[in-house]
Amino acid sequence: MTDHVPPLARTAVIVVAAGSGTRLAAGAPKAFVPLAGRTILQHALDGVFAAAPAQVILVVPAGREAEAAAMADGRPVRVVAGGDTRQQSVAAGVAALADDVDTVLVHDAARALTPPAQFAAVADAVAPGVGVIPALPVVDTLKRVHDGVVVAPVERAELAAAQTPQGFPRAELEAAYAQAAERGVEYTDDAALFAAAGGAVHHVLGSDEAFKITTPHDLERARMIIDNASVPALGQARRPVAGAVVPRIGIGTDVHAFAGGGTLRLAGLDWPGEPALEGHSDGDAVAHAIVDALLGAAGLGDIGQHFGTAHPEYAGAHGDVFLARTAEILAEAGYAIGNVSVQFQGNRPRFSARRDEAQRVLSAALGGAPVAVSATTTDGLGFPGRGEGIAVTAVALVHPIAHG
Ligand code: CTP
Ligand code: MG
Repeated sequence: MTDHVPPLARTAVIVVAAGSGTRLAAGAPKAFVPLAGRTILQHALDGVFAAAPAQVILVVPAGREAEAAAMADGRPVRVVAGGDTRQQSVAAGVAALADDVDTVLVHDAARALTPPAQFAAVADAVAPGVGVIPALPVVDTLKRVHDGVVVAPVERAELAAAQTPQGFPRAELEAAYAQAAERGVEYTDDAALFAAAGGAVHHVLGSDEAFKITTPHDLERARMIIDNASVPALGQARRPVAGAVVPRIGIGTDVHAFAGGGTLRLAGLDWPGEPALEGHSDGDAVAHAIVDALLGAAGLGDIGQHFGTAHPEYAGAHGDVFLARTAEILAEAGYAIGNVSVQFQGNRPRFSARRDEAQRVLSAALGGAPVAVSATTTDGLGFPGRGEGIAVTAVALVHPIAHG
């Protein structure tokens, strides 16, 4: 167990993680439940340690102290055993405060994705006699109900949903906890307990990400937030964890009308005798849909962003130029192309005789990644069926290039 704290920080964060997670029902105490390759507790500690320096006290189920200490990944924490209720667990954390602490933040490990800035916002607002909670306005219309009957409306503007960390001056929080223990009262949260002892409680704006993971649905929501946050910006592809290559899929669509003049350019080929398609550059809707699928798979934006009117150097360029540049953009961001599958809907051109040729050209433009192209008609339905234009759908798989 790690039991040293940085000497400078006079703020302590008590992270309560001693609950059993009954509603999550994941076969382990909630803090130890896996979430995107780590545990809920590790994510919570990541947020705590990304905030301003503080002494960290971790309250965990009795008997799980060593395991929890290991999850601090070498960061300094003091680990203590919690109690049967959340209030008892916080009391155990308060009892473990070092002498030099003057401000205490109490935080639920279950609010694992709380932004670091929320800790600072709360800590900064704590003052003598004043506790602080982060809270969100309530968005739903609320009713008071009784026995299946709506009894009364509730004025939403008067309500706020409380989150953590909740911050308090240390001495007053200690006194409030002592009083609660003496009276044997259980409060709904630390702010209520603090208020019962005569403290004022202010609120600052909380955040959606600080929601409490309570049910399996909440765990899924947290997983999705983490996944989305890891969509890399240009040049920052995520390195796969422990050698695992995690593929990513993307979709792209494009529609162009037949314009009449000129020669059709489609799927990287010229089609003499076929009416040309309208559209930016050469109108090669197959190539354009593939570009969007690839950029989407890598989370790198779309064709308009990279090749649109802001980039006059691409005006009139062939689709294969777009494809080659797209492959470069992906490589620069650390992605390799797995494969591409694309299908267009249209009565013409008659495609199958030139399928191999088109696939070779498109694949070459992408540096050799396999491209499968198919064509279909729509039974005379819709604009492709009326011969007004063609519609294309492409999907692409990409994967991070493993480094070192
Ligand atoms: N907590 C605690 N000690 C307890 C009960 C709860 O430290 N005896 C902590 C939880 O670990 C959690 C936070 O208080 O981080 C909020 O509690 P809750 O979301 O209710 O978690 P659990 O009690 O674990 O879940 P459940 O109520 O579904 O059993
Ligand atoms: Mg609980």
